Amino acid sequence: MSRISCHSHVKGLGIDENGIASEIGAGLVGQKAARESMSLIVDLIRSKKMAGRAVLIAGPPATGKTAIALALAQELGNKIPFCPMVASEVYSSEVKKTEVLMENFRKAIGLRVKEVKEVYEGEVTEITPCETENPLGGYGKTISNVIVSLRTVKGSKQLKLDPSIYESIQREKIEVGDVIYIEVNTGSVKRQGRSDTFATEYDLEAEEYVPLPKGDVHKKKEVVQDVTLHDLDVANARPHGGQDVLSMVGQLMKNKKTEITDKLRKEINVIVNKYIDQGIAELVPGVLFIDEIHMLDLECFTYLHRALESSISPIVIFATNRGMTTVRGTDDIKSPHGLPADLLDRTMIIKTMPYSQKEIFQILKIRSQFENVEIDEDALIHLSEIGFNSTLRYSLQLLTPANHLAKIYNSTSVDLKIIKEVTECFIDAKSSAKTLVENSDKFMK
Ligand SMILES: Nc1ncnc2c1ncn2[C@@H]1O[C@H](COP(=O)(O)OP(=O)(O)OP(=O)(O)O)[C@@H](O)[C@H]1O
Ligand SMILES: [Mg+2]
Repeated sequence: MSRISCHSHVKGLGIDENGIASEIGAGLVGQKAARESMSLIVDLIRSKKMAGRAVLIAGPPATGKTAIALALAQELGNKIPFCPMVASEVYSSEVKKTEVLMENFRKAIGLRVKEVKEVYEGEVTEITPCETENPLGGYGKTISNVIVSLRTVKGSKQLKLDPSIYESIQREKIEVGDVIYIEVNTGSVKRQGRSDTFATEYDLEAEEYVPLPKGDVHKKKEVVQDVTLHDLDVANARPHGGQDVLSMVGQLMKNKKTEITDKLRKEINVIVNKYIDQGIAELVPGVLFIDEIHMLDLECFTYLHRALESSISPIVIFATNRGMTTVRGTDDIKSPHGLPADLLDRTMIIKTMPYSQKEIFQILKIRSQFENVEIDEDALIHLSEIGFNSTLRYSLQLLTPANHLAKIYNSTSVDLKIIKEVTECFIDAKSSAKTLVENSDKFMK
């Protein structure tokens, strides 16, 4: 059974080709103005006109701020990096606050590397490891070399390869019938898929089929790979980096580094910039989403400010449900949304509005279908009324226990009686606060 999280019904922003938000689209209901603004941001990101800017989504609790940010991630697809974090993540006892921020910043900056590489490419027709006696004595045998034959539409070639390449072949689980390429310079092996001559073996499977390569086995090939700056940092911080693009910064790997230092990052930036100038790599500014931004403190805000102005910066999206509040880390400086005024001035603000009861009804309906909860129409109406008077989140949270109760009662669907019963089991935040005030003398002070 697949797990369902609270935002898994959101599949996108639900915007039509004219840039207009439909009443219900891609799992989202209402909140049209915010969705349309976000869709504009998507366009700007795609056309690379947004880097180094910040967007703030502000609105009352449970008005879909996080949902809309995640919808943006879905719209961007997997070619543009999206790094979500919650502001309180910076308060770790082991890592500096600014280090956490920096790491996430670099996870949100992509690099598309196009390299023309000399490769051997084709469908594998033979893999034969050749064994010899172990030169160091003992009983075992070692592999002295491996013979791999590759076939293309145009011809075929037999290669005698180093034993280290045999290890990569085993690691990538390459078999006869797979289409692979071997880079001549690094010896790294990439499996592209199974040759489509084998495609009719099964009706349904997870395999990806690729056509038999054209041209010669030995040729020059343009290889495109997407990595983030953080991937490069990690690969170069570890003594043994990856085999492919990551090793393009291989010069740095020699002096075995084990920690991502500011110095290493600077060195990587220099090389990245060089590759960009040479046209080998292209910078893909992605999105860093920081939820509950009011949890950051003044130090972090100052740092963010600086990072946003750097030449390599992602688009940063904040979300908060706070109004006028104290900026963390200051004595008592109050500011809208808990953001320092100068940073706030740099953001484009998108606001979210409370939902109408009809909209809450629609959201509940989508969620009940998504969670496979059979629920009667009148029960759903009552639940949306409850959501309207307390919060959307409260009414959404009641769906699962109500469904469970229905099972206990052997009822085929959740009815009005069951909804009334669960609302008695679990009270909402507003009623809870009210009870506390009314009965303050009965609690410990
Ligand atoms: N317009 C919408 N359409 C469909 N589902 C929604 C919509 N808005 C919110 N939801 C769902 O309602 C729940 C609460 O919304 P969400 O977590 O996005 O609120 P939020 O504004 O981030 O609240 P908070 O300020 O408390 O963080 C989530 O499960 C979310 O997926
Ligand atoms: Mg949220």
